[in-house]
Amino acid sequence: MTGRHIALRGINKRFGALTANDDVDLDIASGACLALLGENGAGKSTLMKVLYGITHADSGTISIDGVQQNFRGPFEAMAAGIGMVFQQFSLAPALTVQENLLLASPTAPWLHVPGSRALTAVLEVLARLAPDIDPRSRVADLAVGERQLIELAKVLNLNARTIILDEPTSVLTPTETKRLYGFIETLVADGAAVIMITHKLADVEACADHTAIMHRGRMVHAGPSADLSRQQMVELMIGTASPATADRPSAPASTTPRVIVRKLAADTETSSVANIDLEVCAGELLGIAGVVGNGQTVLADALVGLHPLRGGDVIVDGHSVAWTPKPRIPDGRVAYVPEQPVHNAVVPDLDLSANLGMRSILQRRFWQFSRQQQDADARALLESADVRPPEPMRKAGTLSGGNLQKLVLGRELAGAPSLIVACYPTMGLDVAATRAVYRNLFEHLDRGAAIIWISEELDDLLDYAHRIAVLHGGRIVGVRDWASASRAEIGDLMLLGALPQCA
Ligand SMILES: Nc1ncnc2c1ncn2[C@@H]1O[C@H](COP(=O)(O)OP(=O)(O)O)[C@@H](O)[C@H]1O
Ligand SMILES: [Mg+2]
Repeated sequence: MTGRHIALRGINKRFGALTANDDVDLDIASGACLALLGENGAGKSTLMKVLYGITHADSGTISIDGVQQNFRGPFEAMAAGIGMVFQQFSLAPALTVQENLLLASPTAPWLHVPGSRALTAVLEVLARLAPDIDPRSRVADLAVGERQLIELAKVLNLNARTIILDEPTSVLTPTETKRLYGFIETLVADGAAVIMITHKLADVEACADHTAIMHRGRMVHAGPSADLSRQQMVELMIGTASPATADRPSAPASTTPRVIVRKLAADTETSSVANIDLEVCAGELLGIAGVVGNGQTVLADALVGLHPLRGGDVIVDGHSVAWTPKPRIPDGRVAYVPEQPVHNAVVPDLDLSANLGMRSILQRRFWQFSRQQQDADARALLESADVRPPEPMRKAGTLSGGNLQKLVLGRELAGAPSLIVACYPTMGLDVAATRAVYRNLFEHLDRGAAIIWISEELDDLLDYAHRIAVLHGGRIVGVRDWASASRAEIGDLMLLGALPQCA
């Protein structure tokens, strides 16, 4: 099956009002590695899920060697030799490696005897990929990089000749990454097509023959990797400046820090931040730029006291708000708009009133509680936050993502917080809702709040933030004042963690 050519033409995919893929064309040749580059939310995963048959495009065609395909689901894509390794693995951690491989094989029986033909067959690829992994070990005991190899083995066991890897290096250590590059090279030499979704230029340089770059749902470039300089790739990925939707907030009145972050260090299983020093004044909007996956989530959780610190402290108005050494109930000094508020900040099975009352329940004494008062407060909040429909008794899970986002913002910004930590607060919102979020945040700046705004939309940060700090690999690698910030320089810091030696 070598030499085959896959052509995606005019792929369109919308999710509600959002266009994830906008008239996208892509060619995939075998015996080559294609890097699919783009910022978070550019539409890369959606496009590849369309090819894999798991997502159905609204329009557009897929053809293999000129023959149009209509995959009804992944099984049909697999039958055509297409396999995909997702960002979220689908292994059963309690089972052994060989049990997982048997489960994934459509022909092998799940019950097996040692040395059986079925078992030998499913283990063959793994033995080549990762001879050090004992097939009898439990998946739960393996490192992330090893689990990824098992996912890859699953795909190769199905004889995939077109292999899609969704951000494979984002979970790997440098050593594991090098090893993966080696496997990709072998697969390509063997005549397979490998598509690597990534936002790392190092991945492109290490193994991509071709590069395709997406920005906001569109394919903005496709061609041989050698045709583009690093600088050009960065510019295509981050796009050209978009028109501003609001005025830049006025300069902070004070230069005394209201929020002081000292040597903050925190870890999760997969990411860590260290040595974070930041100061934010009253009325100042500090933007944190960075490609997703560089420690944003753990940094935000640690700043607001939801995640324990390994070291350092977070001081707001002279008080520590960090989890050091014990967690504390939020005291109204800090407001938090986490990423994906739908998952992280609401309880879908509770009604809107209860979701809005969560903070005040924690802060109020129980004898001060009145359900009637809470519902009345909720109705007023829903209306001022423009949540639709503004019905306090409605279950949160029935609202759209954008409306839940407005609800969380309304709840978190209802008091007079000194520090607001907002992660991607406008992600997925339309223009009008985005403008409302900015207006709301900027009113808090006028009141003297300090805001730390984590974003991947460099254009927005350049338009609104007073200063921009760049997070890369869990460290702040540079801070720029808005007047001196250049988008190219910040883009380089975001992607490389340093400025290139020669421009
Ligand atoms: N199942 C879905 N429902 C609603 N929106 C989605 C869904 N999948 C993706 N999106 C949205 O489509 C856009 C593109 O997403 P995605 O393809 O995952 O981007 P990328 O992989 O480049 O980060 C994003 O704004 C994302 O929020
Ligand atoms: Mg993705």
